[in-house]
Amino acid sequence: MFKNIVIVGTGYVGIPVAVMFANKGFNVVGINRTKEKIDLINKGICPIEGDEPNLPELLEKVIKEKKLTATTDYSVCKTADAILICVETPFDSDKWEPKYDSLKSALKSVGENMSKGALVIVESTIAPTTMDTLVKPILENTSKMKAGVDFLLGNCPERVMPGKLLYNIENLSRVCGGINKETQDRMLELYANIVKGELYPTDCLTAEVVKTTENAYRDVEIAFANEVALICEKLGINVYEVRELVNKAPYRNMHLPGAGVGGHCLPKDSLLLSYGVKGIMTPELMILSRNLNKQMPIHTAELVINAFKENGMDVKSKKIAVCGFAYLENSDDTRNTPAMGVIETLKAKGAKVVVHDPFVKNYPGVEINKDFEKTIEGADALVFVTAHNDYKALNLDKLKKLMKTPIIVDGRNIFNKEKVNEKGFIYKGVGKG
Ligand SMILES: NC(=O)c1ccc[n+]([C@@H]2O[C@H](COP(=O)([O-])OP(=O)(O)OC[C@H]3O[C@@H](n4cnc5c(N)ncnc54)[C@H](O)[C@@H]3O)[C@@H](O)[C@H]2O)c1
Repeated sequence: MFKNIVIVGTGYVGIPVAVMFANKGFNVVGINRTKEKIDLINKGICPIEGDEPNLPELLEKVIKEKKLTATTDYSVCKTADAILICVETPFDSDKWEPKYDSLKSALKSVGENMSKGALVIVESTIAPTTMDTLVKPILENTSKMKAGVDFLLGNCPERVMPGKLLYNIENLSRVCGGINKETQDRMLELYANIVKGELYPTDCLTAEVVKTTENAYRDVEIAFANEVALICEKLGINVYEVRELVNKAPYRNMHLPGAGVGGHCLPKDSLLLSYGVKGIMTPELMILSRNLNKQMPIHTAELVINAFKENGMDVKSKKIAVCGFAYLENSDDTRNTPAMGVIETLKAKGAKVVVHDPFVKNYPGVEINKDFEKTIEGADALVFVTAHNDYKALNLDKLKKLMKTPIIVDGRNIFNKEKVNEKGFIYKGVGKG
């Protein structure tokens, strides 16, 4: 029977997981190294902004009921039946290796504090073989216990995404990779408390490969859609119409193209998967796809530059308003946001760039404005990078009055080209020739 659960790393993954277990009556403690995040959680305030249905309310409820508390102190692991590690696992593209500093330090602290019989689960996304070559040795060395004998060890990768954090945990199926049958059985028992979807027991390596593959697959699919978008631009047609008609053919499900791929996961998980076979094989398709997706923000900025050029103007010194800084619509998540690539490319050409986002509070080195009308007043072009709902409801006549030069560049198919042209705008969109 599980009673006490510790969640290490209270971010986009750790917070909803902690809240869901607490809401089912478990005594949950969330550990974070950042005191500010701990303080917010203990006050019943959800540190995740953006549209996250039911999460702030449920967090407030479980804090009031004292089923969830947060701390920086790992000694709470001593009485934990289950310890779930949800820290970030980025990838260093220069060194071509995962950045496991957070994971290593979390494992060390867990190992030093956990007790015999604990079930330790890594929920973070990790490169294939990491459970065996990094997680197990650190835990065994620091705890002086043996995995599979004194404690149980598993990998249960997350399938959440911002905007659907609680929904995905509750409803999607999960892969429960355990080092032995007992671990797998205990994992199924634990997750059945919060997951309505199927739970599939397997070994740790398979779980690692499943997680990195599902995201690498999506990145490759998006890259394909982006390549077709570039083709359509050259041919002078609309990729979104093409996509709709392609998807009428049986077994076709072409993805959406756009201004770029961001977030903590997609830009790195194909790299983690590739890293898993470092020295024995060099995957090509997923790396080509990654590089193509990385080019899309630059391409979006080039659409802005070309909109000026083709109309006898220069982007230099022009006021360009970047609309949307989060990587995902209706979210505050700015990790690896494509907006940065758009901004940097435009600034390098001498443009005066201003940025608006209704959800993002701050970002190092970038001033994020909340007042849309003030931000776009006197702008020479608007470039839409994120499809926030606010942008879909914009009044084009009002926009035109506020802007100095009526140029719209649409990275997310927010506007209908013909309608925008009718209103007298110069319009360019990713995939719209
Ligand atoms: N965000 C998603 O949508 C998503 C989806 C599926 C999988 N994942 C995976 O889940 C993992 C976590 O992602 P996230 O988005 O929640 O990251 P995050 O950055 O939002 O949260 C991680 C938290 O861990 C804390 N932390 C780091 N090291 C710590 C330590 N040693 N001790 C205590 N706290 C520590 C950080 O302060 C941070 O608050 C990653 O591996 C990611 O790839 C994320």
